[in-house]
Amino acid sequence: MKKHIVLLPGDGIGKEVINSAKDVLHAIAEEYNHSFSFETHEIGGAAIDLYGTPLPEATVGACKQADAVLLGAVGGPKWDRNPSHLRPERGLLGIRKALDLFANLRPIKGFKNLLHASPLKEEVVAGSDLLIVRELTGGLYFGTPSERRDNGNAVVDTLAYTRKEIERIVDKGFQAAQQRRGQLTSVDKANVLESSKLWREVVEEKKAQYPDVKVDHLLVDAAAMKLITSPTQFDVIVTENLFGDILSDEASVLTGSLGMLPSASLREDGLGLYEPVHGSAPDIAGKGIANPVAMILSTALMLRYSFNLDDEAKVIEDAVQSILDAGFHTGDLQVQDGRIVGTVEMTKLIVDYIKSQNASKCIASCYF
Ligand SMILES: NC(=O)c1ccc[n+]([C@@H]2O[C@H](COP(=O)([O-])OP(=O)(O)OC[C@H]3O[C@@H](n4cnc5c(N)ncnc54)[C@H](O)[C@@H]3O)[C@@H](O)[C@H]2O)c1
Repeated sequence: MKKHIVLLPGDGIGKEVINSAKDVLHAIAEEYNHSFSFETHEIGGAAIDLYGTPLPEATVGACKQADAVLLGAVGGPKWDRNPSHLRPERGLLGIRKALDLFANLRPIKGFKNLLHASPLKEEVVAGSDLLIVRELTGGLYFGTPSERRDNGNAVVDTLAYTRKEIERIVDKGFQAAQQRRGQLTSVDKANVLESSKLWREVVEEKKAQYPDVKVDHLLVDAAAMKLITSPTQFDVIVTENLFGDILSDEASVLTGSLGMLPSASLREDGLGLYEPVHGSAPDIAGKGIANPVAMILSTALMLRYSFNLDDEAKVIEDAVQSILDAGFHTGDLQVQDGRIVGTVEMTKLIVDYIKSQNASKCIASCYF
């Protein structure tokens, strides 16, 4: 298979972990006879420094022509005082909107030997395996531009959704549940927000089309509590942009580190942008200690969702699991035993495992 991939390293550790993704893809291409070509473009703070904008036209153009996009992370203290249109995060929001990537999928599944790395009790997190489907191009982050009134002493942010926007993400949630354990939890704040009332109406209307999926509704405050008190009760969660943003970061504690969580942002036709859930981690940038696993697992999601290469995706996931089971981990994981390695060494261990072609020996039972 021949595919063209645009790489957007971004800022901070984004520039480090994107190299891990590339190394892994070279190994997959070699082992499975594929041809992946790469093109690198700037986004975020790096783009502001070079081109005076967080999202240059050339970046958008290249992404539109690509078969898939891999993104590191954006942001950092250097740009924190910039006006809002010159903030690195604008690049991220802009590329999601420009590519119409309305569905953000965040799988959260812990690794057996990292259970104790979670700040939660092992018996609470054991067996957690959930998928958060977050709406990505609507809601508060994309309402009419935020406004300061009354000499800056009052503010207005708007939360807007159309029925069509809700329908397409709710469909994604139902479809994901069909491919998993058939349980969908729709999270909203329908006791207060009008947007949530429409959201709940749409879910209720849609459920007749998916009779094999069991649906329940949960208010976001209750969902936040249940995610950490009984995470195993969830299969697929579907929710709007802001709630999904907060809940998926909260769910990251189940895996012990933000550095373990991949994500996929998809368009209707399969084009996808794949990125780790974590940010640019300025506190550790340039030290060579960033955990590359979230980026590498995002690469596996790209192979699965955009290229239909499920076997190759599985080999990467098995390689990660196998290396962690062998006791190697980066310093962000509070693991009692084992050996701490840096970004480059962790990547090399995973690449070597893929190349060893012994991946099939490590099966899903290694999880939990
Ligand atoms: N998708 C994105 O690009 C994205 C997401 C979140 C935050 N940000 C931006 O990143 C910057 C820093 O934000 P933050 O500190 O709130 O969040 P962050 O995710 O960058 O870091 C939070 C903490 O987790 C650690 N961490 C994160 N990823 C890690 C990894 N792969 N390996 C080891 N440790 C890791 C960091 O060292 C830090 O202590 C901000 O400018 C923020 O706007 C970008």
